[in-house]
Amino acid sequence: MPKPKVLVTRKFFDEAIDLIKTVADVEIYPSEEDPIPREVLLDKVQDIDGLLPMLTDRVDQTLLDRGKRLKVVSNYAVGYNNIDVNEATKHGVMVTNTPDVLTDTTADCAFMLLMAISRRLVEVDKFVREGKWVKAWGPKMLLGSDITGKTLGIIGLGRIGKAVVPRAKGFNMKILYHNRNPDPEAEKLGVEYRSMDEILAESDYISLHVPLNDNTKHLIGKPELKKMKKTAYLINTSRGPVVDENALTKALKENRIAGAGLDVLYEEPTNPKNPLLKLDNVIVAPHIGSATIETRLAMAMKAATNLTAALKGEQPPDLLNPEVLW
Ligand code: GLV
Ligand code: GLV
Repeated sequence: MPKPKVLVTRKFFDEAIDLIKTVADVEIYPSEEDPIPREVLLDKVQDIDGLLPMLTDRVDQTLLDRGKRLKVVSNYAVGYNNIDVNEATKHGVMVTNTPDVLTDTTADCAFMLLMAISRRLVEVDKFVREGKWVKAWGPKMLLGSDITGKTLGIIGLGRIGKAVVPRAKGFNMKILYHNRNPDPEAEKLGVEYRSMDEILAESDYISLHVPLNDNTKHLIGKPELKKMKKTAYLINTSRGPVVDENALTKALKENRIAGAGLDVLYEEPTNPKNPLLKLDNVIVAPHIGSATIETRLAMAMKAATNLTAALKGEQPPDLLNPEVLW
């Protein structure tokens, strides 16, 4: 029997490719930064058995219709809003993601943004580099906001939201959370449930950890921003469209909230002319939540493990649509 064929849509980790090669022939789209063009992907999907896409690659009905041989889509991300999982199930295609290995790294990123925006790290670094530090040190120079003892509101107490908790505890923060349903582990974790309105009104920092779907798109829009304290900060390491970016830009511009730390934007990459980028009270990162050497390799091994399991006819460890096997 010929070996199954796999397409990896970006230059990838050798260790992971070696693992996939134990069961399949692998083609790697040879690009470091640019996503595989849609037409190329739609063409290549016609004769592959396994696809390992990036979060920039859309896996929808059109693609699945073409992929007549496709058995598995192993997403290189924990979030899978780029994949129409229901449609994949209808096509009999397994979908997997990379949970757990990036949980701490992403929680670190959220806390990094929280600290950086509240102490104005980017702004102060620029201040020194641009030669603006010409006057003596002063009692009111570049003041930020305390973190210790403040109230953190975690919206979406999933794996990553929960990993933010011990970080915030290290700063003696009071920790609130909002989920659709209260979490049975909350008491043990030392976090208190609040309604959406309450968490927005009480928190000094709001950190978003929900997946992007129809229920969470624009979860934070104008009405929600209005309910936040004027001194509060918004941290987003989830997905850009969870926040109404126009409303956020306006709120930041008018100082209706204190600031925002964003690892994700509405459009990625964002237009360099995005008015958000003109503001000092925002720190923006290019979707680097899981971007450490250790974690990106661990994610690659996980994606490769899921892919090879599926191609061997086994149930992949991180199967998102087990009903496909029923
Ligand atoms: C990155 O955003 C991921 O979902 O892994
Ligand atoms: C992602 O892993 C989450 O559940 O927050």
